[in-house]
Amino acid sequence: MKVRVSVHRDFRIGPIDDRLYSAFIEHMGRAIYGGIYEPGHPQADENGFRKDVLKFVQDLKIPAIRYPGGNFVSAYRWEDGIGPRDQRPVRLDLAWRSKETNQVGINEFAEWAKMAGIEMMLAVNLGSRGLDDARNFLEYVNFPGGTTLSDLRRSHGATAPHGVRMWCLGNEMDGPWQIGHKTAVEYGRLANETAKAFKAFDATIETVVCGSSNDRMPTYPEWEREVLEECYENVEYISLHKYFGNNSGDTLNYFGKIEETGRYIGTIAGVIDYVKAKKRAKNDVRICFDEWNVWYHIREEDGRRIKGWDWPEAPALLEETYNFEDALFVAGLLNEFIRRSDRVRIACIAQLVNVIAPIRAEKNGPAWRQTIYYPYQFASLYGRGTALNVAVDCPTYDCRAADDVKYLDVAGVHDEEEGIVTLFILNRHLSDAAELDLGLTGFAAPELLLHLTMAGHDLRTGNGPDHPDRVAPVPGSGVGVEDGALKGSLPALSYHVLRLK
Ligand code: AHR
Repeated sequence: MKVRVSVHRDFRIGPIDDRLYSAFIEHMGRAIYGGIYEPGHPQADENGFRKDVLKFVQDLKIPAIRYPGGNFVSAYRWEDGIGPRDQRPVRLDLAWRSKETNQVGINEFAEWAKMAGIEMMLAVNLGSRGLDDARNFLEYVNFPGGTTLSDLRRSHGATAPHGVRMWCLGNEMDGPWQIGHKTAVEYGRLANETAKAFKAFDATIETVVCGSSNDRMPTYPEWEREVLEECYENVEYISLHKYFGNNSGDTLNYFGKIEETGRYIGTIAGVIDYVKAKKRAKNDVRICFDEWNVWYHIREEDGRRIKGWDWPEAPALLEETYNFEDALFVAGLLNEFIRRSDRVRIACIAQLVNVIAPIRAEKNGPAWRQTIYYPYQFASLYGRGTALNVAVDCPTYDCRAADDVKYLDVAGVHDEEEGIVTLFILNRHLSDAAELDLGLTGFAAPELLLHLTMAGHDLRTGNGPDHPDRVAPVPGSGVGVEDGALKGSLPALSYHVLRLK
């Protein structure tokens, strides 16, 4: 397959917000307990946090992390997780039919996030609770001292305020499964009043209002319109969620879901523009895609298990083992986020450890990286700068998810400070290599600095505790700069990171 690609220094989409490579972690399954925190594990530090897991997290250079849920947050009492640990209550987590011991709460998580070098993005409970508890939580977390709640935090050892600037107003409030589910108007009003109260506390706070749980929801995209009509002027972001899978075993259709996601983003961007125009508003609302990942391998099985179990503590849940196909999919999805970075400012891989996660941590055993860890890591490390509007001319295919899907999926990022252009390329053709002719305009005599690739694996192959590096990136070959253009052959079903200076 012949492919012509044009990259021009001046054809830009715009600056990428670093938070496009953020993550999400929830109090559920073994994400917190048995994931980042496992006292007694040989790798645990004096506070119970696993150093091996932390290292894998640090290597991702994650800018921000959404916490503590998810469905969990909609019945969470933040006060249960503060103060002396031996006095914290054990509660039922209604979302995941589990017991929550509250041994990790906001102050412990803040300590962990600091070690990991990640900014916290906190979600408040607008399901079973409301504005008053949300603003109390905000005061406890962010006020320096001299009030009952801020002094309480100080008495718990957190003398400095946590300075959290991003706040999510509830979680998936459109979902009938959500504790405290609401209609769009009910929720939009509550979100508006909560955002107003947060801004009365600190005008620089950014709020994220809940959009649809996915683009199959019967209320989508009316939900977004109705919610935004209630709160447009007081929020900075609207959230989108979407999980993916290849249940039908149709690889090309799976990869077509990357384009489908582009449509989803475009639709919500249109709704935002509509409401902005209708309200004659001046402010812009951006998209925070704060839950995305592959979730299908054991989803149904987990659904059955949950129904049958008796409120376990930190049970193994949503522990999907990813394969090479999933890594290729994640690579393409991240490309789509880069291409849509004019509207999508924040995106969070869901989740980070054990639960639908790029990192797994065995109980009393090793931590290991899943196949999807690598495309996420490369996007986070090398995808910062200005998104380029790359033109791709290549054969296309139609599938259930989308039509005219280009076999070659390309995203380009220009790091102007370093003078480096990074190209993320996915060849999703099942059998044909891409004979690449990639022209670079406006970059003086580019040289290939780095070529990493993931290729040549069976699509169903994954990693595991006994073979942690079976699917991992290796130095690439077969591509080079000739007369100022990048030329060479990219095998079928392969992913490449190419850095030029
Ligand atoms: O990430 C797992 C769950 O998926 C989250 O709790 C919820 O927000 C979504 O439905």
